[in-house]
Amino acid sequence: MNKFSRLGSEPIRSVDEITGGRRLRRMRRADWSRRLVRENHLRVDDLIWPIFLVEGQGRREPVDAMPGVFRYSVDLAVREAERAAKLGIPAIATFPNIGLEKRDATGSVILDPDNLINQASRAIKAAVPEIGMITDVALDPFTSHGHDGILRGGVIVNDETVAQVAQAAVLQAAAGADIIAPSEMMDGRVGAIRDALDAAGFQDVAIMSYATKFASVFYGPYREAIGTGGLLKGDKKTYYLDPANSDEAVREAEQDLLEGADMLMVKPGLPYLDIIQRLKEEFAVPTFAYHVSGEYSMIKAAAANGWIDGERAMLESLLAFKRAGCDGILTYFAPEVAERLRS
Ligand code: PBG
Repeated sequence: MNKFSRLGSEPIRSVDEITGGRRLRRMRRADWSRRLVRENHLRVDDLIWPIFLVEGQGRREPVDAMPGVFRYSVDLAVREAERAAKLGIPAIATFPNIGLEKRDATGSVILDPDNLINQASRAIKAAVPEIGMITDVALDPFTSHGHDGILRGGVIVNDETVAQVAQAAVLQAAAGADIIAPSEMMDGRVGAIRDALDAAGFQDVAIMSYATKFASVFYGPYREAIGTGGLLKGDKKTYYLDPANSDEAVREAEQDLLEGADMLMVKPGLPYLDIIQRLKEEFAVPTFAYHVSGEYSMIKAAAANGWIDGERAMLESLLAFKRAGCDGILTYFAPEVAERLRS
């Protein structure tokens, strides 16, 4: 009897009376039974690996804000794509860091058939044809202001950006992209890209829409990786979604599907699991999450300080996407997790 006991009162009901004899811990008792009733699994087949590109030859530059992540020149990106294919990773997504002198107000280099992203697609597809190539058609790696669209008089102009992005998508398909991933959130982009691809004979090239891309702070380290961090003036709130909104995310996804998107993506990942679950329930189409740079760096930073078990945090985070209903996950952890899952 201690001072917190209810003095003088007997327990009112036994646990079996309270639960009706149900004991939910029974199946958690042993590893074998936990494995037997496990509802979701993370597999190598679920992974898409985003990789950063840099101009030149034999270059492998660390991204300071993303420990373990590098920018690769095309020759080394090919080696990384080979490594990914050997690990069984189904697809990679490329993001270019081009010289500042090549960036301008309209992101015109996106229309160069031989720009960094297209060079990489050609080289990777020639060496590793079995890996899926996903390319992003936003303008931000190519603009001097770091915005995803064309900036005129302080405004990101929608229709002109859409026209340029659709043209860029055709060039990316011609260079070998299997999936075009528009991430700039302009209205009408998915339909315009579908039309342009079909007119150019690329009916088989798919569209993975960054359907619900939120105006998030978690993209910070990515901006260092592609060198837009110091350039960006203002924010992207006039085109990315407000993190407060969920119904609007459903409308965005619905619109992209009507325009011809084959797959949906939610970005960022963990803070938006509710959106993933809603979209999967509502539309039942292939749904992906982008576990973004800031989410990666938070785990790496805490692990480096000894504050968290980085490997387990990685696995638990990625499993959570499966539980929420994801078909796959874009993650910088892809090779690390693939190695872990195969061992
Ligand atoms: C922009 C783009 C972003 C990311 C990929 N493409 C967001 C941004 O810079 O605003 C973020 C990826 C990440 O944070 O990992 N088109």
